[in-house]
Amino acid sequence: MHLAVMTSGGDAPGMNACIRAIVRQSIYMHHDVWGVLRGYDGLLAGHRRRLGLGSVADVIKTGGTFLRTARCLPFFTTEGQAQGRDRLREWGIDGLIVIGGDGSLRGALALHQLGVQVIGIPASIDNDIYGTDSAIGFDTAINNVTQSMDKLRDTASSHERVFVVEVMGRESGAIAVAAGMAGGAETLVIPEVPTNYTTMIARLKRSYARGKRHSLIVVAEGAAHGEDVARAVQEQTGYEVRLTVLGHTQRGGPPTALDRILASRLGAEAVQLFQEGQSGVMVGSKCGSLITTPMEDAVNQHKDPDLDLAHLAAVLAI
Ligand code: ADP
Ligand code: F6P
Repeated sequence: MHLAVMTSGGDAPGMNACIRAIVRQSIYMHHDVWGVLRGYDGLLAGHRRRLGLGSVADVIKTGGTFLRTARCLPFFTTEGQAQGRDRLREWGIDGLIVIGGDGSLRGALALHQLGVQVIGIPASIDNDIYGTDSAIGFDTAINNVTQSMDKLRDTASSHERVFVVEVMGRESGAIAVAAGMAGGAETLVIPEVPTNYTTMIARLKRSYARGKRHSLIVVAEGAAHGEDVARAVQEQTGYEVRLTVLGHTQRGGPPTALDRILASRLGAEAVQLFQEGQSGVMVGSKCGSLITTPMEDAVNQHKDPDLDLAHLAAVLAI
């Protein structure tokens, strides 16, 4: 059979390891496998390449996606989606695996509803997709952020400064919570929990009164602008405050071992599901076991970050 794979939306470290697993598992099962370039944009434009065993040599260790990725406005329309289905038919593709975030999975669901056999794989540093404990890329991103926080703590303590660190997460505090815990953040500002700035400032002042001389405040971009938080803290405490916006550095670099393993397992399982004739499902991992979730649930159900972990981070930063 003929299988196609694409990466779509924001790139996530581990996407390459996932493509590698799909290609090698497909070839092992005697399927022909094609890579669609640049997500739905490439699908509509008709850009693809054949993926052989050698095409995925050495990619397990690289961040980004060698198939490249894109955001594609025309795919939001029913015309664009029908054009995508027709393209796959024209190419003689029997099934498509979409690796991406919740937006990309919505596109995949639209194709499934048009009769295309589609399997979804969650990949997003935001880790906001229902149906998996972790999406591909999240572990690498939180390790990237933790490393940056360690570096910032060195300079913060030397200069006795407050550092506001803005991290990614379009609508989710997942990165802030996990990396904030691992990096020993004193304060977390996340969209899932309303921030009481008066309490936050009072807490900061109390810790300084007890002898603390530096502090790291992690702000999820979906909750507030780091710049506004930094200004408020500076104005209301008089402490010396610096802002660091980590930006896209969080999304780059080699994937961690955990992301490579997750990506490899999800990729290989997606090919198995394709062979079984399944469609409209996303494969994820819960408590170490692979599970499938209807794509409709994956994109419509809400996933909160670990709020117990957020609470613990606050307790431990006392
Ligand atoms: P991510 O997959 O990382 O969440 P986006 O939300 O930007 O990234 O989505 C990536 C692409 O998926 C969009 O540019 C669009 O082409 C497609 N997409 C997103 N939402 C939908 C939708 N509701 N219907 C169809 N396609 C969608
Ligand atoms: O969805 C992943 C993500 O990195 C978000 O955390 C962030 O808000 C967004 O993508 C950034 O998008 P872009 O790469 O288009 O700037």
